[in-house]
Amino acid sequence: MLIALGVSGGIGAYKAVEVARGLQKRGHDVVAIMTHSATNFVGPITFEAITRRRVITDQWEAGANADIEHIQLASTIDLLLIAPATANIIGKLANGIADDFLTTLYTATRAPVLVAPAMNTQMFSHAAVRRNMDRLAADGVRFVEPGEGYLACGWIGKGRLAEPEEICDAAEAAVRPSASLSGRRVVVSAGPTYEDLDPVRYVGNRSSGRMGFALATEAARRGAAVTLVAGPTSVAPPTVDTLVRVRSAEEMHAAVTAHARSADAVIMAAAVADYTPDVRAAQKVSKTEGDLTIVLRRTPDILKALGAERASTGRGTVLVGFAAETEDVVARAQAKLRSKQVDLIVANDVSRPDAGFDAETNEVTLVTSDGVEAVPLQSKARVAAVILDHVERLLAARAPRPTAQT
Ligand code: CTP
Repeated sequence: MLIALGVSGGIGAYKAVEVARGLQKRGHDVVAIMTHSATNFVGPITFEAITRRRVITDQWEAGANADIEHIQLASTIDLLLIAPATANIIGKLANGIADDFLTTLYTATRAPVLVAPAMNTQMFSHAAVRRNMDRLAADGVRFVEPGEGYLACGWIGKGRLAEPEEICDAAEAAVRPSASLSGRRVVVSAGPTYEDLDPVRYVGNRSSGRMGFALATEAARRGAAVTLVAGPTSVAPPTVDTLVRVRSAEEMHAAVTAHARSADAVIMAAAVADYTPDVRAAQKVSKTEGDLTIVLRRTPDILKALGAERASTGRGTVLVGFAAETEDVVARAQAKLRSKQVDLIVANDVSRPDAGFDAETNEVTLVTSDGVEAVPLQSKARVAAVILDHVERLLAARAPRPTAQT
């Protein structure tokens, strides 16, 4: 794997040399990028000798732009690791400031990004730094938390760059996709359903599909064969084994039921309409003088049907549902867990602006028959990882692991 190691100007920069060596020992190719201030702590030659590659220190160096290096590198690296990351660089990344090679590379790459902060304790706990780190976490950046102890500035507390070994372990985990779900078939539903009134009008909801897409992405990263059944969304779905596009609850019902038969786990993250217009007019409905009454009839409860079928057949499929609530979140989720006969309900308070529908982040509560686990506000990618850790435990408890890859 090709790992870009960004080194910013902190006393921990000397430890980045060990990080570069550690990554190489694990078989990775490392290209070091140093900010201007990092060169005050360690010489580029040190990194050059270790990585056996030219160290990038200046965006304006002659030759560096011959093939628009930051763009070219951005598309070839498997990971951008920044260690140490100062408060300054964290602030720049969080705000999209791209004024040197490293910050430009960050905005240009779509590779995973891992940041190992290092700074004075007071700086690390400052509201501005916390805000910037939360923003980055919401953007999908992962962190290697700093250690506690004596800091170079004489303070004792949290802020010391994590140990090189720990940083290398985190980098390894970020680049090597785990195979923990290989051989498993996972069906994920995502997005809203649109229930048509006539050729131009529909009843829908504000689901963006992001949570379901994050789950599908993470399940695929873990090696599962993923079928994604997606309602109408403007957010682009991830690449998965099978993508089934649907519009209405009825279409979603048909697609999920068909694919659930061979699935090890079904995760219903879709916001399925509970009601659909009784009749769908073939032509656009014109207005008349009086009011218009629309009769809505119930749609099939897809998850409940899967739960009932499993209860009657005893099949081992793991079933996960979501509960979009605005009040009594946990109690309502527990009621849904029982009535739908499923293994896990991910409860969402959709009244919050930063969680649930149409947000990049989510804060959920996982409700099982064993208890309740609060998952704090973080990116939907991280929340998806926590949900899938649960699914893996449920799979291990229910069905033996398949021997052959399918
Ligand atoms: N669900 C489903 N089919 C439906 C409605 C919902 O499979 N027709 C699934 C959703 O995908 C979700 C779970 O059931 O995983 C709970 O959805 P939610 O709308 O929160 O609950 P409802 O059962 O619809 O109950 P209510 O709207 O009364 O809260």
